[in-house]
Amino acid sequence: MSGTFDGQAPPVEVRDLTVAYGEAPPILEKINFRIRAGEIFGILGGSGSGKSSVLRNVIGLVRPRAGRVFIFGQDLWADDGGHLNDCRRCFGVMYQAGALFGSMNLLENVSMPMREFTDMSAEAIETAARLKLSLVGLSGYEYYMPARISGGMQKRAAIARALALDPGLIFLDEPSAGLDPITSAGLDQLIKTLAKNLGLAFGVVTHELGSVMNIVDRAILLDKEIKGIVAEGDPRELARRSEPPYVAAFFNRQSLEKAKGEGPAEGGSKRRPGRIE
Ligand SMILES: Nc1ncnc2c1ncn2[C@@H]1O[C@H](COP(=O)(O)OP(=O)(O)O)[C@@H](O)[C@H]1O
Ligand SMILES: [Mg+2]
Repeated sequence: MSGTFDGQAPPVEVRDLTVAYGEAPPILEKINFRIRAGEIFGILGGSGSGKSSVLRNVIGLVRPRAGRVFIFGQDLWADDGGHLNDCRRCFGVMYQAGALFGSMNLLENVSMPMREFTDMSAEAIETAARLKLSLVGLSGYEYYMPARISGGMQKRAAIARALALDPGLIFLDEPSAGLDPITSAGLDQLIKTLAKNLGLAFGVVTHELGSVMNIVDRAILLDKEIKGIVAEGDPRELARRSEPPYVAAFFNRQSLEKAKGEGPAEGGSKRRPGRIE
């Protein structure tokens, strides 16, 4: 099964998306971005800048206040979300907490989406699930329960499950959260290899600068003060910029005051950035 509806359409296109919960004022207004085939795209920003909220709109969990989301050319929220089910099968998601089913072994976890969404035979499902586990370096761990493997292995298994339906696109929310630096670097390498070898596009939500510089091809930086995208491009190039100050501060792990060339906290800036980790 192919994860794409139309070879020409980009994996993700977001047009004039306004992100808001209920009646509350918008968190982000009219943002636009595209994730291209085969690229690792970063959605960056300090805590509370709206990274996870954008993701929820893009993967069909929360309806946007306004704007459109196209997944491989399919308008996700058209017809009151009527395309949601078609679209959901062409991307995989690894949520912030990893979220494997604790009562199932790894093989069963990876098999789940195929059992639920395809009419593949039990045998074909098992073969495919073993293959996905081998792609993430977990051959030999098929019958392990999630609690018996390390945090890094759990993340790999969750990626294997996200690969179950052969999507052309995978979303990861804070993939390295809770991992030590070495495990985190291994996970980065895996993501890079999957993008290269399988031609997968990745949408990665993160505030881990090291990981961004290692694997992200292109990124947007969200800013909660302007409720929008404050910078977009190759993160290594963005890091060389000194303007605007928030961008320099984010990529150089500085306080905003320092990036502006002002003194520390008492520098008189009324505009404080979100916490920059
Ligand atoms: N389910 C929700 N209901 C209402 N407000 C929310 C909800 N989830 C997040 N928010 C608010 O949206 C803003 C952005 O949060 P979030 O998208 O989690 O940011 P990030 O992932 O960048 O840390 C925050 O002010 C947060 O309090
Ligand atoms: Mg988040």
